[in-house]
Amino acid sequence: MSAQKVEKAAVIGSGAMGHGIAELLAMNGIQVTMVDINDEILQKAKEKIKWSLDKFAEKRRIRPEDATTTMARIGTTTSYEQATKDIDIAIEALPETMDLKRKIFTHLDSLAPAKAILASNTSALSITEMGNATKRPEKVAGMHFFNPPHSMQLVEVIKGEKTTDETANAVTELSKRLGKTPILVKKDVRGFVVNRILGATFNEAFWAFYRKEATKEEIDASVKYTGGFPMGWFELADFVGLDIAADVGRILYEAYGERFRPCDDIITPLLQAHNLGQKTGVGFYDWTKGRPRVPFNLLDTYDTDRSWAVAVNEAAWLIHDDAASPADIDTGMKLGTYWPSGPCEYADRTGLDAMLNKLKELHAKFNMKMYKPCPILEDYVNKGWTGKKSGRGFYQ
Ligand SMILES: NC(=O)c1ccc[n+]([C@@H]2O[C@H](COP(=O)([O-])OP(=O)(O)OC[C@H]3O[C@@H](n4cnc5c(N)ncnc54)[C@H](O)[C@@H]3O)[C@@H](O)[C@H]2O)c1
Repeated sequence: MSAQKVEKAAVIGSGAMGHGIAELLAMNGIQVTMVDINDEILQKAKEKIKWSLDKFAEKRRIRPEDATTTMARIGTTTSYEQATKDIDIAIEALPETMDLKRKIFTHLDSLAPAKAILASNTSALSITEMGNATKRPEKVAGMHFFNPPHSMQLVEVIKGEKTTDETANAVTELSKRLGKTPILVKKDVRGFVVNRILGATFNEAFWAFYRKEATKEEIDASVKYTGGFPMGWFELADFVGLDIAADVGRILYEAYGERFRPCDDIITPLLQAHNLGQKTGVGFYDWTKGRPRVPFNLLDTYDTDRSWAVAVNEAAWLIHDDAASPADIDTGMKLGTYWPSGPCEYADRTGLDAMLNKLKELHAKFNMKMYKPCPILEDYVNKGWTGKKSGRGFYQ
């Protein structure tokens, strides 16, 4: 199936992500049917799409008549039979539970035409497992959009163990047709690229805070004002939702062990108090009066190269595992989280030797696996591949 041939799609689940994905598909000329558990939810999803399209028209990003034709391309149903009729692709955006996703993938497989690709928008679960719940695992792939799908530029395209290149290419091409920049995650690794690297930087900051090396304001001010990141790590964790961040953290810990040991002592009490961040009004910060103020004068109280060092180390592990290329890792971090630079570019500029030394220093001091240098980082530096200054680092 080529992307141009995608004429009809089903979006499974019309929640925060599902309705946004349906809107994006319809804006790009694709007939979409959203499926959910009842009509009331589907009606709300349609209203949200209409509101969003009206906003686009108001801002003159689309013409008013485009809003009307886009809406006309979106159908809703609670019937899987109806939704999957003649589709070229189904994109699943159900709650992040493997049992549910597996059940629905089996069901979709029994109903959708043989040509159809079954894609999942999962943030962290195994594409291989979803594929194995069907008789067409070669046609099952990850298509991980970022929130909100219409404005975030990145899509992670994930290959499960049995996903063919043809399927991955079709999802990549479809992402481009939707105006997105896809990156290829060649192996079905947990956290894919963006959440895995972000998870590592969160953990470094949370442990530093736990050890009372710096306050959350000090870390966030340094990360924002000195590091040039769009948000501090505590601010960002609150923004994402501490329950979601903790779930991803747990999945990473289960997959990679000690390297991703979560800092439960600071997260668990917040979860128990249902202080989940911006959405509940309180998390690390109080959001009830708007976005927290991160004091500018604390801008050099935490060494942001610590964040970079663990990010570079995790990028090295992704390359070591043959899960993604340096260019895709860098694109992912810049477009998925608005980092000022990708970790591989940053290491090449700063020196892989400097990053390696930082990791060794932290490892010697704290004896935590998160700082233990990835073998390829040591190998590159031993070969003299220290980055721009030597003509070769992650890039040539
Ligand atoms: N929210 C984000 O920022 C974000 C970003 C990227 C990826 N994701 C992933 O996208 C997926 C969906 O997340 P979300 O935030 O949109 O969740 P959500 O809870 O907002 O939406 C899930 C929807 O699925 C519906 N649903 C539940 N059971 C169903 C069933 N059996 N059949 C049909 N519909 C059913 C629910 O009614 C709900 O409308 C998850 O896998 C999540 O990890 C979320």
